[in-house]
Amino acid sequence: MIISVINYKGGVGKTTMTANIAAEMAYRGKKVLVLDLDPQTNLTFSFLTVEQWQHSYQHQTIKRWYDAFIDKDEELDLKDFITRPERAHKRLRALEATGILDLIPSHLDCSFRRNRTIYLPWELAN
Ligand SMILES: Nc1ncnc2c1ncn2[C@@H]1O[C@H](COP(=O)(O)OP(=O)(O)O)[C@@H](O)[C@H]1O
Ligand SMILES: [Mg+2]
Repeated sequence: MIISVINYKGGVGKTTMTANIAAEMAYRGKKVLVLDLDPQTNLTFSFLTVEQWQHSYQHQTIKRWYDAFIDKDEELDLKDFITRPERAHKRLRALEATGILDLIPSHLDCSFRRNRTIYLPWELAN
């Protein structure tokens, strides 16, 4: 199942709702993959600290996948961009939840600058 939360308007609750739906579904035992496509990167920072992102993840974001796709016509394997945020993972285990919450982080410099169809969720689902 793919759930997309999309609205051009800011401040309407997209990030809050996405983070909470993901966490609740993982708590209920689902294997959840959160895909942050917003250059604001707030959803990413709901699960990673800024320091963690800078230290470990800033080169493993959706920006890198997208730039390779657009600039070099290269399709990197999206699975290589999946991270497991430690805080959420520990919290889920502490609650004895069996689900998983994984994340493909975003990047503040993301710009989906060309009008080319993005089909990431479908690729991941198949
Ligand atoms: N259901 C809610 N009730 C009250 N405040 C909310 C609710 N959902 C989000 N907020 C608050 O509204 C603000 C914008 O939410 P956010 O999820 O960042 O929006 P968006 O991602 O659409 O820009 C945040 O300060 C958030 O804490
Ligand atoms: Mg947001």
